[in-house]
Amino acid sequence: MEKYIINGGNKLYGTMRVQTAKNAVLPILAAAVLTDGKVRLLDIPRITDVKNMVKILSCLGCDAVYEGENLTIDSSVADCYEIPSELAHELRSSVFLLGSVISRFHTAKIAYPGGCDIGLRPVDLHLTGLKRLGVEITEENGYIICKCDKLCGNEIMLDCPSVGATENIMLAAVKAEGTTVIQNAAREPEIEDLQRFLNRMGARVCGAGSGTIIIEGVKSLGGCEYHPIADRIEAGTFLVAAAMCGGEVTLEGASAENISSLLHKLRENGCKIRINGDKISLESHRRLTSVKSIETQPYPGFPTDLQAQFTALCCICRGHSIITENLFETRFKYAPELRKMGADITVINRNAFIRGVEKFKGATVVAHDLRGGAALVLAALAAEGRSEILDISHIDRGYGAFEYKLRSLGADIVRVSV
Ligand code: UD1
Repeated sequence: MEKYIINGGNKLYGTMRVQTAKNAVLPILAAAVLTDGKVRLLDIPRITDVKNMVKILSCLGCDAVYEGENLTIDSSVADCYEIPSELAHELRSSVFLLGSVISRFHTAKIAYPGGCDIGLRPVDLHLTGLKRLGVEITEENGYIICKCDKLCGNEIMLDCPSVGATENIMLAAVKAEGTTVIQNAAREPEIEDLQRFLNRMGARVCGAGSGTIIIEGVKSLGGCEYHPIADRIEAGTFLVAAAMCGGEVTLEGASAENISSLLHKLRENGCKIRINGDKISLESHRRLTSVKSIETQPYPGFPTDLQAQFTALCCICRGHSIITENLFETRFKYAPELRKMGADITVINRNAFIRGVEKFKGATVVAHDLRGGAALVLAALAAEGRSEILDISHIDRGYGAFEYKLRSLGADIVRVSV
């Protein structure tokens, strides 16, 4: 077990490069199973979710090799269609493999997925979509078992625009017979990135980024080299850190368009933001003013994955805020921890009511999930005094070299074994 020790109060100054997006890399890794060719992925962060996905690919028989920051997957040798529970439980995204494993082997057996404990995370839309493509699905002893003679394209209307279900159906449909149309598809930038990657391998997918995605099945896919998009959630986390601590931080390799909902709100708070190509700079020199309310929404709305970090910021703004979480019901587990640091925050159902206080005070707090954990780190960086953040393995799931990057901006943060 490891923890962070943070001495708060330092302003942040400097430039940092944004990692490639965890939520783009994971489905792309799942998609690598669809080809016999080699896939070379550039600049892949060494975060736990990616490491676990690579472990799962190895368990399927794929060859996965890191050379520096690049990761090569050779799926020509894949020979197994089962993902055991000890691996699937560590990573919810293992469910994305259903689509590609069923496409490859016409059979798949995957233990029910794990991942962040942030409320019910059902997979009904994934399964209904796959059934529409001709997959027979049964459930046995915690395993989802899928079988089909062949996959056939079909029209699929999602009840809600689920990111994972959209991606899973895309993966199952790329080599299906005929055309698949996904209606009410999720519009997240990572879905567009998956489309770009699939098409680079020879697939015929269009429409990603809109609510309708059309996939014309192809017979086979080849290898390719690919650089996934920037991580908009990591970028947003560092911008909020700079807003909370004060100073001036520039992100390189970022996409302002993909976090425009956050940039909007940060400007409303009183931050000065400049955009120049793939660089985003944020300057903050005084106590910020609260935004009255924020609701998380599917893209292009305010992302649920930045809700915790932004809530931490609201806790030290001047004025009141109400934050509404519409996607995952238990995504306020970090709120009692923020209260230990002096925040005035009350959670009732899906809403957090906040009265801004002057400052956080250092405390010992526990990270319960990935983004909530990041929010506690930001609060500790902005706090007066010393904090300890326990259980940081949650944070390692999504932020590569987190403390190195923060230290390079002037933060006083160290990782210590417990
Ligand atoms: C993905 C992201 C996650 C992000 C989330 C929402 C990855 C690896 N993870 O998760 O970081 O927080 O999008 O932007 O990309 N739902 C159902 N039935 C289903 C599937 C989903 O009811 O079969 C519901 C969920 O309970 C939730 C909503 O749909 O309320 C959105 O979930 P979804 O978009 O599927 O999130 P994930 O793909 O799990």
